[in-house]
Amino acid sequence: MKKITIAIDGYSSTGKSTVAKQLADYLGYIYVDSGAMYRAVTLFAMQNGIISKENFDFEKLKKLLPSIQLEFKKKPDWSKAHIFLNGKDVENDIRNLEVSEFVSPIATIPEVRTKLVAQQQEMGLLKGVVMDGRDIGTVVFPNAELKIFMNASAEKRAERRYKELTDRGDSVKFKDVLRNIEERDNIDTTRKDSPLKKASDAIEIDNSDINIEDQFHTVLQLAKDRIAGRV
Ligand code: CDP
Ligand code: CDP
Repeated sequence: MKKITIAIDGYSSTGKSTVAKQLADYLGYIYVDSGAMYRAVTLFAMQNGIISKENFDFEKLKKLLPSIQLEFKKKPDWSKAHIFLNGKDVENDIRNLEVSEFVSPIATIPEVRTKLVAQQQEMGLLKGVVMDGRDIGTVVFPNAELKIFMNASAEKRAERRYKELTDRGDSVKFKDVLRNIEERDNIDTTRKDSPLKKASDAIEIDNSDINIEDQFHTVLQLAKDRIAGRV
């Protein structure tokens, strides 16, 4: 059967990774969480005194970029691949609100994007890939057979992310989660290099009032149509 490339972009906490992973599992495709790569570079920057509330040393990060090695690895008992930063599993460490506070400024740096986009495009050569992020349909895979652009109200997205963080035991305030989501929306859509925007041929889904299961069936049908050559 023909294998396609599926690009899922959109705003923070819209359910991109949830639907991307469901699709990949169903179709037997590889799932790549491109946001995890930006988060891992951010964690590296935090660990190496490059970024903090007081300090932001872009030049140092650019110099150290060649020493950042990112890899996805999967074990049979993990539900999804984990990201490894220089050999260490950082899947859990990259999900906290502190990393979320610094990731969008880091993702504005063109040298960071060039490095990560090259690695993402290499993974795309495999075909049968579902990748989610902000610039997948516009920059990473402009020729993807299926492009989805996801949105939902900021309130709804903050409620979802707040639940996720508190469920895993993080002590966060709802207002800080909402503020972070709005700040990232703003930085991600206004940056010069590869801003978050809907590709002209992407299908937009607002899932403010759509549950995970219905959203999956909608996107799966779109994928099946393309695999079968009906579209
Ligand atoms: O899951 P969530 O929506 O919170 O974010 P993510 O997908 O983990 O991405 C974190 C951040 O990385 C985004 O807010 C963007 O600043 C950046 N990012 C990007 O610039 N380009 C991508 N392809 C993926 C993420
Ligand atoms: O990848 P992205 O940041 O866009 O979102 P996600 O991590 O897939 O989803 C964020 C949270 O929203 C997860 O806890 C999902 O279970 C939840 N969600 C939901 O409740 N209803 C939806 N229609 C989509 C996602």
